[in-house]
Amino acid sequence: MSAPNPDRAHSRRVSSRLPVFPWDTLAEAADTARAHPEGIVDLSVGTPVDPVAPVIQQALTAAAGEPGYPATAGAPALRASIIGSLRRRYGITGLPEHAVLPVIGTKELIAWLPTLLGLDAGDLVVIPELAYPTYDVGARLAGAQVTAADSLTQIGPRRPSLIYLNSPSNPTGRVLGVEHLRKVVGWARERGVIVASDECYLGLAWDAQPLSVLHPAVCDDDHTGLLAIHSLSKTSSLAGYRAGFVAGDPWLVAELLAVRKHAGMIVPTPVQAAMIAALDDDGHEAIQRERYARRRRKLLPALRHAGFAIDNSEAGLYLWATRGEPCRDTVSWLADRGILVAPGEFYGPKGAQHVRVALTATDDAIDAAVKRLA
Ligand SMILES: Cc1ncc(COP(=O)(O)O)c(C=O)c1O
Repeated sequence: MSAPNPDRAHSRRVSSRLPVFPWDTLAEAADTARAHPEGIVDLSVGTPVDPVAPVIQQALTAAAGEPGYPATAGAPALRASIIGSLRRRYGITGLPEHAVLPVIGTKELIAWLPTLLGLDAGDLVVIPELAYPTYDVGARLAGAQVTAADSLTQIGPRRPSLIYLNSPSNPTGRVLGVEHLRKVVGWARERGVIVASDECYLGLAWDAQPLSVLHPAVCDDDHTGLLAIHSLSKTSSLAGYRAGFVAGDPWLVAELLAVRKHAGMIVPTPVQAAMIAALDDDGHEAIQRERYARRRRKLLPALRHAGFAIDNSEAGLYLWATRGEPCRDTVSWLADRGILVAPGEFYGPKGAQHVRVALTATDDAIDAAVKRLA
């Protein structure tokens, strides 16, 4: 390959602002795990493994012949299904039709949210200390500043433009209590700060009951400045469809819609149809939740018996586990047993002694992991 042309440095202007893709650093541990005589059990990523429910697949294919452009705002039936599911599943009330908007998976929305809201170098985005990496990526894409803080006092005198919440958390499974959520909402409201609450794992609760930022007990029925971000990837195993939505402050949602219309950020018609089927049917969601609950009931005691302490992990798709040693040592220890997990340092320096163990593996793979840990 010829040497890179210095005149083309401009072509990396954006990617050079972004962090190194951390998963590349897991290659050696992955090779070790793959060399296990019975094969790898990959618990390093949160990708669903169970087939999409037939009711959703049928809705997708039934819409496959639709030739026209879909609405960026979402079909009226989709908006109604979003509002209905948020009310039934999470007790969220008072959302008008124009307060919800479908997105092409929530990673897309999170990566572009600061840009879509017009944030730039003068703006500060606050993210959790242990966090899904795309919050930071989105701020960097907009050229905004980022700080990691789990408490309001850590933020200091500066007024952020946007603050992220993520309860239940990826990676820790921590659930923020109603008082914590109320405090953040009140603090943000006094200062005109937007709160984006990533509620990707809200439907996967085990030992604690998480609440949406839009729940009346949190926001007193006032959605001003609040955005709740919901994914269908985990609760309905639709990661491959790219399906999510944002709901909350109608003024903010209208602004997002106005920009997204111009930018062509449109959810395809068959995916909109599949989303309606998924949001109208609570049965497949309950089945999926029980699958993860079953896998968690096996894996959690197996890790404890193998000498791990499990912190938080009261909800969501991960066990936040530690052996009180550097996380890369734990990754290697598990890789020697054919099990691949994610080092906690991927999510922030506070994760230096933890690993994230995903529940997203088949029952057979979970059984194999349990056997190897014994
Ligand atoms: C906390 C969190 N938010 C958002 C996402 C993105 O989900 P999707 O883009 O599939 O909707 C993930 C995916 O793992 C996640 O863990």
